Amino acid sequence: MFSDSELQLIQYEFSDISSIYLNTAYFGPIPKRTQKIIELATKRAADPSFYSMEEWLSIPDQTRESIATLLGCLPKNIMHSTSTGDIVALIGRSLNRAKNERVALIDEEYPSNVLPWMFLKDKKEITLDILPKTPIVDIEYLEKHLDKKTTILNISYISFKSGRKINLLEIGPYLKRKNITLILDATQAFGSLGISKQELSYVDAFVCSTYKWLLSPYGHSFAYLSDDFLTHLESEKISWINSDSFVNCQELTKYSTKLITGAVRFDRGQSPNMLNMRGVLSSITLLSELGLDKIESYNKSLVNHFCDKFDSKNFSLEVPREFLANIISLKSKSGDLKNVIEKLNQNNIDVSVREGSLRISLHFFNTVKQVDKILEILEIL
Ligand SMILES: Cc1ncc(COP(=O)(O)O)c(C=O)c1O
Repeated sequence: MFSDSELQLIQYEFSDISSIYLNTAYFGPIPKRTQKIIELATKRAADPSFYSMEEWLSIPDQTRESIATLLGCLPKNIMHSTSTGDIVALIGRSLNRAKNERVALIDEEYPSNVLPWMFLKDKKEITLDILPKTPIVDIEYLEKHLDKKTTILNISYISFKSGRKINLLEIGPYLKRKNITLILDATQAFGSLGISKQELSYVDAFVCSTYKWLLSPYGHSFAYLSDDFLTHLESEKISWINSDSFVNCQELTKYSTKLITGAVRFDRGQSPNMLNMRGVLSSITLLSELGLDKIESYNKSLVNHFCDKFDSKNFSLEVPREFLANIISLKSKSGDLKNVIEKLNQNNIDVSVREGSLRISLHFFNTVKQVDKILEILEIL
């Protein structure tokens, strides 16, 4: 658990939040330090006098290093992009065309993991299976529903809709045995929890948008691409920053279409997006200082507190509590959430409704008192 000084720091960093904000699965609030860094970056953009190349070109690599440290991998395996959907689409387009890919998804997956594959299916470039929705993804489920010819499973680590967390230690070895590539969308997980070396060893592509649980400004995502997976990806475009001929601005016309090596070759154009990326880097320093282990156990303790006390005639949990980590989704027995949201908003509580369920997100700046408050409102409805 957090020390007194850490609790004070957290209180300070998020002192601009004016509501009982239980909505990180929608937007993570940026901490104070990140606001300040973005202000400084804006000032620098307003006065670019004597802007050395190192000053701005080094930002993607600094951010790559901080992400790699948080994730427990090498920087060369990290690429920068703008969104999860862009990365999934990029992976889809970069796969070896000669291989007849058969991609599996589970129904109710976030669209960024669905639409790029549907698009390729419409163009008859892949085969796509959408497996039936389920509260639990285990080997029994996969054994029953995965087609024998499946080559890729694209799944969220934590579901945006139900809060269901998958057990990588269980399904990872199973997928490896079956030679199925695992594309894991960690957008609703990473930052609220970390990933162990062993868990990461089962993942071929770990994709994450940083504006939620990593508390960063909107407009950045990254992926970890394993060494083995990288050998299966063929780049389908080049930007000048990713060309191996790029050394400095004195030699820009020594053109070469040879790409630099590692995941970095997939970096988006203008990857040194200074206003945004300085913010990402700053938020990651806060998470690193606090430690993802501590954050994970704190968030889980809030979820446990909610589940221990939750006893409502009007709502039920979407998935069993042992599969929850940071998001609690409640199904309304009456089906109507309009009044519920109104009541919560009147009490200054900010949550989301997704696909007919009430979604409550709990991150480390939330408190037991806030959980008690929402429980109190839900009880009296
Ligand atoms: C599971 C999941 N993945 C990704 C995203 C964001 O996708 P993108 O970065 O493509 O906009 C969200 C947003 O809610 C999400 O819940």
